[in-house]
Amino acid sequence: MHNQNTIFVTPKLLAQQSNALASLTKLAQQCNVALAYPNDARDEARLLCKAHPFLSSCLQATEQALFESVADKTGTFLLDEGINLSFYCPLELATSSVITLFFHTLSDAIAYIQAFPKPGEQLPKLIDAYAALLAQGKLVAFPTETVYGLGADALNEEAVQSIFAAKQRPFFDPLIVHIAGLDQLEGLVVDLDPRAKLLMDRFWPGPLTLILKKHPSVPAIVTANSQTVAIRMPSNPLALNLIKASGKAIAAPSANRFGYTSPTTALHVKEQLGERIDAILDGGACTVGIESTVLSLCTEVPTILRPGKIGLKELEPLLGEVKVSKQVGPTDTNLESPGLLESHYAPATPLYLVDDVTLYKDQSDVGVLLFEKQRVPFKGPVVYVSEKEDAEEAASRLYWAIRHLDSMNLRCMVGSLLPEEGIGVAINNRLRKASAKH
Ligand code: TXA
Ligand code: MG
Repeated sequence: MHNQNTIFVTPKLLAQQSNALASLTKLAQQCNVALAYPNDARDEARLLCKAHPFLSSCLQATEQALFESVADKTGTFLLDEGINLSFYCPLELATSSVITLFFHTLSDAIAYIQAFPKPGEQLPKLIDAYAALLAQGKLVAFPTETVYGLGADALNEEAVQSIFAAKQRPFFDPLIVHIAGLDQLEGLVVDLDPRAKLLMDRFWPGPLTLILKKHPSVPAIVTANSQTVAIRMPSNPLALNLIKASGKAIAAPSANRFGYTSPTTALHVKEQLGERIDAILDGGACTVGIESTVLSLCTEVPTILRPGKIGLKELEPLLGEVKVSKQVGPTDTNLESPGLLESHYAPATPLYLVDDVTLYKDQSDVGVLLFEKQRVPFKGPVVYVSEKEDAEEAASRLYWAIRHLDSMNLRCMVGSLLPEEGIGVAINNRLRKASAKH
């Protein structure tokens, strides 16, 4: 890393992350670490700077003002207490010239800074290079707001075949086609339903996949021979720019081996598919953390085939009645959407859903997924999926937590379902599927 890098951190990061001081002191040997604080934290900031000499300078700034005020924008980062890492990186389809990436741990964020000391210069170049690979029919994994996808040119049959081969995915499971602009719908869908337009207007780019009538030019392998096609416009700015630069519509399932937990970091992708694919675009951890809502507009009544962040509460005001596929619940029956196979998203370590995880507190070989603050100590490893009992935060950490426990050679892991409301419905759906095999 160049020593002209400056990492601004927030006072709250130092206060809330127990390991922050040690990690940042170490980082300060390679670059400048400075405190960025709003006016009302002035006193706290002054004390922190006095107590920790590695905090070489202080600055009072909002995120935008901070990046405007620095001379070397591309070597500057802002790291906050939610482990969000912001940096200047003007991209065409982004809402701001400052990109913010999310990380599960402080050390992941620091590793990203070390890998990309000049992200504003490095990322646009990588995006162009990987877009060229996609245009050549190669496989590129990329971050979306939901999970990492394994992308290939959707209209190139051979390229799409190699997705199935890399994932060991059966051909009966159709793929979602990702687009970066509405102009790409032409040649993918026919007879666009007016309700689809409403939904696109409201929720795209974002975590909603629409099942629409397929255009004849979409290869049968993409849709598993169905006359419908799944389309989604992701909101992650790296994904949007990659798709746009490739000039193609991109077929992309989650970038995991078939049947396993979906990846929410580039490392997850590398572990399962690294050898089998051409590139992985690293964009930190996925912010939503569970797969998009799949909504069919090809059924009599619009039907949720896979629950996600966008649920009935968001959809019904626009659509009126919306059905939820029976498979979404615990008793899966007929197969409307093959991704709803009962055993899916499954870790290798058995996951049991229990009412009270504290019953396992004395078992040192049982890992525990915690969705709320627990006061009792556990002998086995625990992972806080959300310390704040926040369902959206739980979604963003769920797969990471499952993988973390799954890597520890435990006898089993246990967790409890969340209240069946909002994104809790989608989390419970994934928890049941991750546990169904055992
Ligand atoms: O969030 C997501 O949707 C992620 C990211 C990468 O965009 N992608 C994803 O893809 O989860 P995948 O392949 O793992 O899941 C796609 C789901 C499957 O359940 C599949 O059966 C369903 O969408 N699907 C795709 N095309 C369909 C179609 N024509 N009719 C019904 N279901 C379809
Ligand atoms: Mg999948």
